[in-house]
Amino acid sequence: MVKSCAMKGTDLKHPFSWEERQPVLHQGVFFVPKFYDQHKLRNPPLWEDSKKPVFIEYCSGNGAWILQKALHGCDAYWVAVEQKFERVRKIWKKMHNLNVRNLLVVSGEARTFTTHYLPDACVDGIFINFPDPWPKTKHAKNRLVQEPFVSELARVLKAGGKATFVTDHALYCQQIIAAMQGHASFQPDFPAPYFVTEWADYGTSYFESLWKSKGLTIHYMVFEKR
Ligand SMILES: C[S@@+](CC[C@H](N)C(=O)[O-])C[C@H]1O[C@@H](n2cnc3c(N)ncnc32)[C@H](O)[C@@H]1O
Repeated sequence: MVKSCAMKGTDLKHPFSWEERQPVLHQGVFFVPKFYDQHKLRNPPLWEDSKKPVFIEYCSGNGAWILQKALHGCDAYWVAVEQKFERVRKIWKKMHNLNVRNLLVVSGEARTFTTHYLPDACVDGIFINFPDPWPKTKHAKNRLVQEPFVSELARVLKAGGKATFVTDHALYCQQIIAAMQGHASFQPDFPAPYFVTEWADYGTSYFESLWKSKGLTIHYMVFEKR
């Protein structure tokens, strides 16, 4: 009988205990600890060949979208940032089983990773597909795409680089447009109302398939760094 060498998500072990938490690159995953006050790197050796473009997807979930991009975009580095370890394990498992070598998985929170570990103007493109909408007004303060995260996106994107956002949530769409329009570094790619609802070859993710199957309208927004 042929023994299968396929990885399981549980093959990825968490590298530190709570008391010993520290930023560490382990088994192809960069772990950014929570509730940690000694972040100090701005130049980690996260990708070896700085000549290749770097694209980041924040809030990657199970990684379906970025794995397809990395598989078909071997001339670039892709970075998947996801804060839930169980979802990081899913991305990591598929990355190994599909032999994807140009993807770095970051197990950590988007703003913390960006603020402490990304140098200025190091990223060619940013994607955020279906960030948690926090639909109740009293929870809206938890939405990721607002200041100060937008300023961090402006800092790490190269001039001419683009930030792409996708959401089914009409109010969050309006909030993203207002936040990006309100930042001097960004200009919208699409004319008013600054989003489109069809993008045939954009790629698919778990939530994109789910919301489309329920007939929801998807809003795609793109902003260019001046
Ligand atoms: C609605 S899901 C979308 C997942 C995926 N992009 C998709 O389209 O299927 C949102 C994901 O963002 C992650 N997330 C939310 N806030 C985050 C943050 N601040 N930093 C990193 N990940 C975050 C959640 O854990 C969750 O996996």
